[in-house]
Amino acid sequence: SPGTPPTPVEVTTTDKYAFAFDIDGVLIRGGRPIPEAIQAMKALNGDNEYGVKVPYIFVTNGGGKSEAERCVQLSKQLEMEVSPGQFICGHTPMREMAEKYDTVLVVGGEGEKCRIVAEGYGFKDVVTPGDIIKDNADTTPFRRLTPEEHRNSRARNFAKVKIDAIFVFADSRDWASDQQIILDLLMSKGGYLGTRSETFEEGPPVFFSHNDVVWSASHDLTRIGMGALRVSLEAMFKAVTGKELQTTAFGKPQIGTFEFATRLLQEWRKDTHGIDSPPDTVYFVGDTPESDIRGTNEYNKHADNTWYSILVRTGVFQEGTKPRFTPKATVNTVLDAVNHGIEREY
Ligand code: G3P
Ligand code: MG
Repeated sequence: SPGTPPTPVEVTTTDKYAFAFDIDGVLIRGGRPIPEAIQAMKALNGDNEYGVKVPYIFVTNGGGKSEAERCVQLSKQLEMEVSPGQFICGHTPMREMAEKYDTVLVVGGEGEKCRIVAEGYGFKDVVTPGDIIKDNADTTPFRRLTPEEHRNSRARNFAKVKIDAIFVFADSRDWASDQQIILDLLMSKGGYLGTRSETFEEGPPVFFSHNDVVWSASHDLTRIGMGALRVSLEAMFKAVTGKELQTTAFGKPQIGTFEFATRLLQEWRKDTHGIDSPPDTVYFVGDTPESDIRGTNEYNKHADNTWYSILVRTGVFQEGTKPRFTPKATVNTVLDAVNHGIEREY
């Protein structure tokens, strides 16, 4: 009746379930939000018919910026606050390697960004391909540093520097020169540039922040990614040395990434929502069967059947093909995925 104020809908936070999201191909494509993503986030924040708020985190294989910088960008894109406490990118777990290796080559990303990220992780001595080209321009016959790269690069006598490990943090901006430099190190005597091993078995280990051969960017069709560089490098090493190269990839679908995500979600639920018990179900929404669905399904076996994979049709997976790893549900968009999870709970 007129004069009676409307009863406010009470929003409560559920402790029973949570969501985890892949980013590229689910929420974002080529720097722009997928239209349904904004409504999907609103639904999780309580704008749904049950008046329930659902805790969530983000688990992307992407990278190239600090977690804090990436969250500022994602907050703008999704029109809501995203905190580093609910965010993991491909290179986040590399932080744990900073104690183990002293001098490392960091490959990929824009300008100096990945060096800054690596230093932020606590790596003590970070070398970039630019540093090596500045020291010896003959390293890469077809790549010359731009004046800006020349200014930022830190030349030193690399004949005297032992490089202990190679980390590919983000997509290479120049495959030919980056691969040349990685190959030089893999073929070196113990990580010293300018030397050649007799066995090709004493080069530094190589780590990739993920293994996605393709990903979903602004083009209608998928684009090659870091996993493609990995395949290429392994094939090239074999062609040049006759030996197999073993490399390591982080990110999804590695179990370690999902364990990391479980710990992050646990802390996030506790610190921001005061929830102390583990969730019964974590809905993981992804677009790449090989990374998102495979990882979620495999991790689910270790995690008492609490992880539930949902595949969307807005990214790498396209209708008309059969996904190599079968999700628990396939839906059109991330909004459908959120609705699917919420409705399944009531
Ligand atoms: O380079 C990033 C891409 O391979 C995947 O990102 O968010 O789909 O895991 P995402
Ligand atoms: Mg994706």
